[in-house]
Amino acid sequence: MDSPMAIRRLTHLEPATLGELVEYGRSALGDSALDEWMLPVIASCGLLYVGRVGEETVGAAEILGILDSGDIYLEGFYIRPEMQGRGHGTELMLGVIDLLAREGFKRMLVTLAPENEAGTKLYDKTGFREIDYLPDHYGAGRHRLLLAVELRGPEKPEIKE
Ligand SMILES: CC(C)(COP(=O)(O)OP(=O)(O)OC[C@H]1O[C@@H](n2cnc3c(N)ncnc32)[C@H](O)[C@@H]1OP(=O)(O)O)[C@@H](O)C(=O)NCCC(=O)NCCS
Repeated sequence: MDSPMAIRRLTHLEPATLGELVEYGRSALGDSALDEWMLPVIASCGLLYVGRVGEETVGAAEILGILDSGDIYLEGFYIRPEMQGRGHGTELMLGVIDLLAREGFKRMLVTLAPENEAGTKLYDKTGFREIDYLPDHYGAGRHRLLLAVELRGPEKPEIKE
């Protein structure tokens, strides 16, 4: 059985880490992956979380703030292809949601290709709900669903009368 996942926020990327994250992102997300020019921007101006199991980085969540609302936006989320299907995606997403809620963020948005089955299941089981449909969002024929998850802080202990 895999050991538990550690989730770390990275604010500065050493060259070796940057190279790894570019490679892992591309292998999972293809052309839509963030590159070596954008990942440092997310790390310093947004929120970049990586999930690690032992010494291995298994996946990442790349998040930006939306200027005209209190929402945040999940720009990229992936698990490395060779590590998918073992529960890491669910564990990383739930861990990131918990950290964001503790930071006081209220809602996170994400866009999803309607045909992305694994993404649909992952977002559904981690509490995201569809709030809009964005036709041609990434160019002609590249439609997206807009999903949102409410970020709830740690449960407060029940006060008994
Ligand atoms: C989406 C993604 C992050 C899921 O990661 P993962 O580690 O495989 O997820 P989990 O193992 O926690 O599985 C989550 C759910 O997805 C399902 N799932 C995983 N891979 C699947 C696949 N290829 N097809 C259909 N369902 C799949 C699992 O069965 C599970 O659902 P269940 O609990 O009802 O069985 C991963 O597939 C990925 O990185 N995909 C490429 C990038 C991407 O699409 N990112 C999200 C949209 S931006």
